[in-house]
Amino acid sequence: MFELIDRDGLGRRGRLETPHGMVETPALLPVVHPDPARQAVPPKELREEWGFGAVITSSYILRRQPALAERAKAEGLHRLLGFPGAIMTDSGAFQQHAYGEVEVGPEEILRFQGEIGSDIATVLDEFVEPEATYEEARQGVETTLERARAARSARGERLLAVPVQGGLFSDLRQRSAEGASPIGDVLAVGGIVPLMESYRFADLARVLSFARPHLAPERPVHLFGLGHPMLFAFGALFGGDLFDSSSYHKFAKRGTLLFPYGSLPLVDLQEEVCGCFLCAKTPLTQLKDLPPEEQSPLVARHNLLQCKLEIARVRQAIRDGELWELAEERSTGHPALARAMDEARSHPEVFLPTEPLSRRSFRVIVPGSLQRPAAVRFREHLARWSSGVAVIGETERRPLSPSSLRRAPPLALASKGGEGGIWSTSCALGPVPLELTEIYPAGPLVAPEDYAPHEARPAPTPRSEEVEAEDRERNSEAWVHRHVGSILSWTWGREAAAKLLATPLRARHSRSTGRLREVLREKRILFVVANDGLPHPTFAGGEELRAVLPAPRARVVAHADAVPFVSEGRSLFSRHVVRADPELSPGDAVLVVDAEDHLLSVGRALLSGAEMGRFRRGVAVRVVSHAGSRVEKEGSSEGA
Ligand code: GUN
Ligand code: ZN
Repeated sequence: MFELIDRDGLGRRGRLETPHGMVETPALLPVVHPDPARQAVPPKELREEWGFGAVITSSYILRRQPALAERAKAEGLHRLLGFPGAIMTDSGAFQQHAYGEVEVGPEEILRFQGEIGSDIATVLDEFVEPEATYEEARQGVETTLERARAARSARGERLLAVPVQGGLFSDLRQRSAEGASPIGDVLAVGGIVPLMESYRFADLARVLSFARPHLAPERPVHLFGLGHPMLFAFGALFGGDLFDSSSYHKFAKRGTLLFPYGSLPLVDLQEEVCGCFLCAKTPLTQLKDLPPEEQSPLVARHNLLQCKLEIARVRQAIRDGELWELAEERSTGHPALARAMDEARSHPEVFLPTEPLSRRSFRVIVPGSLQRPAAVRFREHLARWSSGVAVIGETERRPLSPSSLRRAPPLALASKGGEGGIWSTSCALGPVPLELTEIYPAGPLVAPEDYAPHEARPAPTPRSEEVEAEDRERNSEAWVHRHVGSILSWTWGREAAAKLLATPLRARHSRSTGRLREVLREKRILFVVANDGLPHPTFAGGEELRAVLPAPRARVVAHADAVPFVSEGRSLFSRHVVRADPELSPGDAVLVVDAEDHLLSVGRALLSGAEMGRFRRGVAVRVVSHAGSRVEKEGSSEGA
């Protein structure tokens, strides 16, 4: 059972419930040897000292050691390993990759995983190498799926991980992902280790782009063998929830330190470049000269710590809406990873369905940053929004802020009456109408100092001060009208905006910043304009939107059981969603309605329209405002 807690695009924070506890995702599962005598770092220590909630081990290797296998059956894997958390077991496909064959049947290895008490058992897949021909890859996919179907019926309490294969073939990855989705509790993308070992990260991005859109969104996604901290942000960006790593000890055996920006062989080190508490105790320059049996356990722990820290940064980045920034920062560490990010950005269709309405920031990390899905979507939306609208003027290099325009509107507005033309300007995204420069992602891209201090243009003929002031007043009103109209039409389309504006709306601006803050009808606040520059409806605004937007637009229909709760402001759970506008993106304003299209509350989508109802756990819509919400009274801020 998987629950999504919050997200940044495809990147997500979630909770996976297993028979041995809840695993917070994204999570790294350290690879441990099934033989308790051969642990690089004892599982007990992984749990108690390092806080790992889950590990992965090979049931195949375990089964090949009869005495140990018997012990595992008798006392259970958890006791054998001394690990009370969740244990995932792999099936042996990786040994097929490494040694060319496996000596166990698919039913046998699955039964064994059950007998030893694995929490997440993996179907024996056919490892499809990146070099596989189409026919070989197709065979691998079909065989894996047949075994998965058989495994599904034989499955007990434990969760079932179904591998996704298909090599580098787009249609086979799709077929494999679609086939695995209804069967697996965990969907595990496999066959990618050889790509990572040879730094073919762009191919890895391609594989993930092929598979990701076809994986059931309500299932956790495991990325097999993605264990270098340099790749965690990248993996999470594609919606990876679980990773496993043997890198921490594999690299340690070679005397190589892992960092989120790459690997550093100890032999090359002359300086104390790591300040972690372990390296503070044993300086790298000393560690370097230790005999391997003393060095490698210390390096393994440094590596584990780096992995753990990077997973924490990924989780924080998801909370902050900065996962693209983090992944791009990591991509500067290696040209192959930089190319992989280019590849990711060249598949906006993979990301757009779950691309959030807005984020707090948009930091340009690499030249390609301006091709992120958020920027692609903004430009595409702008092209549609402005089609048929003439550009009547362009400001010089620096744009004028919407708030300064209100105080000193350009005279041209008067003649145009606030209708028609667009004043475009240049921001990093290209020309943007002035009234949209505060909207995400343009808003965070325009630094305050990018805005030119506005100087009212001299009137063509000298006029009395009174006439000037009247003009300014009229222009200011025209500007505000146009600003409000533009953000409404940007969000809900021209037709809906025209209907909302058919009777006059008022605007209220912040006293301190001059920014548009609220849109009102008489004394009722309909929309609150947040820092993302976008109008967010109140319940009253929701009522008006319901009247002007034909169903199913912006709607989520709540099941009758949930009606009393959502009407009182409680969140709408995914399992109570009857129907949802398929176009909804996370962050979008949602009209929560009953079967008769009565408005129950207004909220923000956590899930995309397509995901709603599919998750059996967790929230689909966070309710923001309902009929009984505190009536927003006219405050003390300045009217306009
Ligand atoms: N470990 C690394 N890659 C794979 C894979 O493709 N399948 C399985 N079962 N385990 C793996
Ligand atoms: Zn260190």
